[in-house]
Amino acid sequence: MKELSFRRHRRLRQSAGMRALVRETVLRKEDLIYPIFVVEGTDVKNEVPSMPGVYQVSLDHLTEEMTKLEERGILSVIVFGVPNEKDDQGSEAYNDEGIVQRAIRQIKKDHPSLTVIADTCLCQYTDHGHCGIIEDGEIVNDPSLTLLTKTAVSQAKAGADIIAPSNMMDGFTAAIRQGLDEAGFTNVPIMSYAVKYASAFYGPFRDAAHSAPSFGDRKTYQMDPANRLEALREANADVEEGADFLIVKPALSYLDIMREVKNETNLPVVAYNVSGEYSMIKAAVQNGWLDEKEVVMEKLLSMKRAGADLIITYFALDVAKWLDEEGKEMG
Ligand code: PBG
Repeated sequence: MKELSFRRHRRLRQSAGMRALVRETVLRKEDLIYPIFVVEGTDVKNEVPSMPGVYQVSLDHLTEEMTKLEERGILSVIVFGVPNEKDDQGSEAYNDEGIVQRAIRQIKKDHPSLTVIADTCLCQYTDHGHCGIIEDGEIVNDPSLTLLTKTAVSQAKAGADIIAPSNMMDGFTAAIRQGLDEAGFTNVPIMSYAVKYASAFYGPFRDAAHSAPSFGDRKTYQMDPANRLEALREANADVEEGADFLIVKPALSYLDIMREVKNETNLPVVAYNVSGEYSMIKAAVQNGWLDEKEVVMEKLLSMKRAGADLIITYFALDVAKWLDEEGKEMG
């Protein structure tokens, strides 16, 4: 028989120890950012029907939730407010006594070492559910920037460590950077939702945040899933405008984009593992069709492999627990 010539890849897979030696990507608790929905009222802890295991909580339950995070070693949280009152200007978004501002102050008081990220958008706060304001039936860009900047400054005043604008108006990073600087918040970074697609995977979030648009859709400001170069234009513009982190959202259907943003820019890249991506896995797990831990770890690892430095995920607490258990097994 003629001698075969081939490479023995299995040499490096033969034991857990050998596999650990050559592992290229790791998932760490420090990479995880946990989203939380805060609502008005007392003693509210509502499970979001389309997101089993995710709750809207009132402020009196917030501290216990944050304690859980800290005990598990999660370092950061992104806060979404669900206000009682909505109007056409989204004025609760920039009310210094609004639900998000109070939540931020409480977290920073009770858990000063947690890094608090404020999502900066108007859609939960406007009665029409759009991310900007409306004039003559149009979602107008520049007047929306004024209100978004007011919102960011109000969140920074409440103690937010990072501002994360998710509204997709043009120039939001430049406007918010200028507003923060003028208000004395030069050290507050912007984690920009630089690349945000008009995605059907946000459906469950809109249940959780009561933020579905009452008419039309978000396609005049969020991006077309068909486009790749446009993502690079968006990312580059946000770098120029002064972003400190770049979010790519959603994550799973856009891993190619994540890699390109990582290669093209030199800022930390954040994957947003969005609500629909969470719900899909939960539904399959509830049916007994998938192993939750295995699929979640594989998916989050794929985001890191695609270039994400950080991951916003509703699975953060579970992942931290699984990482603890693995650590115990190894030790
Ligand atoms: C607000 C916002 C949305 C999400 C984060 N910030 C919804 C949207 O744009 O409709 C989605 C997050 C998720 O689906 O988990 N603009």
